[in-house]
Amino acid sequence: MSNNEESEEKSQTETTDSRILHKHIHISKWMCVLFSIVVIVLVISIMVIIISVVGKQNEKLSKLSLAALETREPSLDVTHTVAEKSVYLSWNQYGSTVIKGMQFKGIDIDDDGSIYFADAGNDRVIRQRMNATRSEIVAGGNGFGNRANQLNSPTDVVVDKKKNSLIICDKKNQRVMRWSLQNATEQRIIISNINCNGLAIDQDGSIYVSDNDQAVVKRWNDGENIGEVVAGGNRVGDALDQLDQPSYVFVDHHYSVYVSDTNNNRVMKWAKNGKAGIVVAGGNAQGDNIGQLFLAKGVVVDHLGNVYVADSLNDRVVCWSEKTQESMIVVGGYGKGSDSHLLNGLDDIAFDREGNLYVVDIGNRRIQKFDRED
Ligand SMILES: *[C@@H]1O[C@H](CO)[C@@H](O)[C@H](O)[C@H]1NC(C)=O
Ligand SMILES: *[C@@H]1O[C@H](CO)[C@@H](O)[C@H](O)[C@H]1NC(C)=O
Repeated sequence: MSNNEESEEKSQTETTDSRILHKHIHISKWMCVLFSIVVIVLVISIMVIIISVVGKQNEKLSKLSLAALETREPSLDVTHTVAEKSVYLSWNQYGSTVIKGMQFKGIDIDDDGSIYFADAGNDRVIRQRMNATRSEIVAGGNGFGNRANQLNSPTDVVVDKKKNSLIICDKKNQRVMRWSLQNATEQRIIISNINCNGLAIDQDGSIYVSDNDQAVVKRWNDGENIGEVVAGGNRVGDALDQLDQPSYVFVDHHYSVYVSDTNNNRVMKWAKNGKAGIVVAGGNAQGDNIGQLFLAKGVVVDHLGNVYVADSLNDRVVCWSEKTQESMIVVGGYGKGSDSHLLNGLDDIAFDREGNLYVVDIGNRRIQKFDRED
């Protein structure tokens, strides 16, 4: 073999080696691409899983913190009359018991923080002053009966600040009474023959009363003997001009009447001189979904038109936004029970000047206070 031949052979071997190497590199490249694709797919799947889990947790959280996530805007008008107040959008979900052991019904809170409530079981109205260790009887408490100084299963009470007196729905006596807060012997019947349920008073001192027999809410102007229909009055039913067991009533500055249309599981708003109402809460059949109510009871409206309603048998207070037409849970809604965050059948609700929420928790025979949280 010549030197030349030898070198030729060597070079041939080299070429084969380099081809194999080349092929190897080619395969590695493909493996690399494949590997990258697998990694990318994996990363994307993990991200999708994480996002969906976090999303679900957020959903749960938002259900828990409820009101807290809503826009923070000023203005909760917590009284039955005029006043523009700061608004608070979330409440501590754990309440404290203000008073217990009675058959509580309607409740009202004065500007000084005094809580007035009807104790239907004991035929009297009680006042619990702020920070006071004892509550006091301010109306009735003289056995049940129909004398002037007696009550028989009162269902609601409102404070008439201008006249320093209470207006009381004396249910089983079929009458509405005015009871002086300064003179214990001064009380009189202001409306007779009425199956009253709930009461409200407007800035002019006119009194609004719901009447179950006639499925109506009527207004009595100060000093007048005849009531004028302001909601319902078209027999029992669920049309927009009808009511079925109207209970609690609220009146805003524009004299619009809000009434808990209890058996229709909705709250109706009747504008002044309206011929029919509009549904402002519920009205989606009885149920416990968001957007549904199960017997509407106490109702309070803030000056933005947000409607707070005691969703009685769902054991929660809900708020319906006029702006978004959506509802959210304010307190309760965690099931029935007697722990501090649980409720067991609601009746009336009220707010004090600071925006703290008071709930008549009938099943637990107590009034729960839920502190406003900033
Ligand atoms: C009640 O107690 C609180 C806290 O001690 C106090 O800030 C408030 O002024 C008291 N209110 C009345 C009416 O006594
Ligand atoms: C309290 O009211 C009664 C009945 O209206 C009246 O006779 C009496 O004079 C009043 N007392 C005072 C101190 O105003």
